[in-house]
Amino acid sequence: MMKMKIDYTSYKDVDLKGKKIIMRVDINSNIDMEKYEIRESPRITALVPALNELKDSAIILIAHQSRPGSKDFTDLDIHAKEIEKQLGRPVKFVKDLFGEEAVKAIKNLNPGEILLLNNVRKWEPEMKGYDDFSKAENTEMVKILAPLVDYVIVDAFGAAHRSHVSIIGWPKMLAGPITEKELFSLKKIVEAPEKPMVMLIGGAKAIDKFKAMKFNFDNGKLDYALCSGLTAILIFEALGKKMGEPNHKIIAKDLEANKDMILETYKKYKDKIILPEDLIINDNGSRKTISIDEAATYNTTTGDIGPKSVEKFKEIVMKCKTIIANGPPGIFEQEVFRKATNEMVEAMVKATEENNALTIIGGGEMGAAATMSGLADRVSFISTAGGAMLEILSGNDLPMIRALREKKP
Ligand code: 3PG
Repeated sequence: MMKMKIDYTSYKDVDLKGKKIIMRVDINSNIDMEKYEIRESPRITALVPALNELKDSAIILIAHQSRPGSKDFTDLDIHAKEIEKQLGRPVKFVKDLFGEEAVKAIKNLNPGEILLLNNVRKWEPEMKGYDDFSKAENTEMVKILAPLVDYVIVDAFGAAHRSHVSIIGWPKMLAGPITEKELFSLKKIVEAPEKPMVMLIGGAKAIDKFKAMKFNFDNGKLDYALCSGLTAILIFEALGKKMGEPNHKIIAKDLEANKDMILETYKKYKDKIILPEDLIINDNGSRKTISIDEAATYNTTTGDIGPKSVEKFKEIVMKCKTIIANGPPGIFEQEVFRKATNEMVEAMVKATEENNALTIIGGGEMGAAATMSGLADRVSFISTAGGAMLEILSGNDLPMIRALREKKP
């Protein structure tokens, strides 16, 4: 049996009352940049109970939003407002990370107060990536901030697959409440999932998702994969179907680099890999159902799966005892492409309630869909992780988990 390497000092193992704590969290959110507003954020929702557990400490939050060069690479002022709104307590914000303003605010912070520092990725060395975690301790940010606090909790589970300074670079690190909850529910799937198990695979990061799927077919844990989004496009194109230039260009590089592996895997598991039978395009604001063969004719992005596919997917979900969703079947940000995502969340609720299935939703969008339709409490668990969850499901040791193991206080 595969075992997850879990070995850390928990925030529960030390007395944090009255202490000053840096807490690295992942509140990377889907932002409506026109309104400069956070859309539904399951990560902020998950942070609220964690902050409540630590309410007798002075908490300095460090987090990131997006990546340099992306449209939604912003300051974290809106995140502070959103946390404040959901938590019902003030959250201070400084547009600084370890400069004079940040240091002063940290020194003045009292137990019971929360301070959010600015987007850590605005500091260029953050994303450099260190294999030797002890080297990251010699960076300016760690050297200035670490001595100002009693403990560092690293709880950015959604970014646990990144060996970034703020995630692996502190001299001593404690695991936080979000990480504990996440590992508890993922452990079951990794070590001994109840079968049949199905993965619902959608959204972007097609090749990573394909590889996670392959790993779980190869190790015998997975019984079905319901492929949609770019993963489906990738498979269709590998099989020689033309999916239209707008679709093709997003997966072209991955296709070229992995075509043989994709075909070989598909051939081996073709009865278990379920592909869509129909797709949806945006026809002047309305949903138009097209067949797979028509995708090339319309030559536009196919943003969702159609009704026949949803029916087929639902039927399989209802046969399974373990259901993991990673990525939505449609482009959830756009209303016109939301329907299948909502229907698959409903199917997961039904499987949880009627079949006592273990249902886990990963990746921000499906979690947001569940929250928006008021169904978040009716699946087994909404994970704050997308990419990190995939890495775990692919059997990899995550940098954050490794750092927690190597840097126990
Ligand atoms: C995520 O959204 O997957 C995490 O916050 C990590 O972000 P990244 O993929 O930009 O490193």
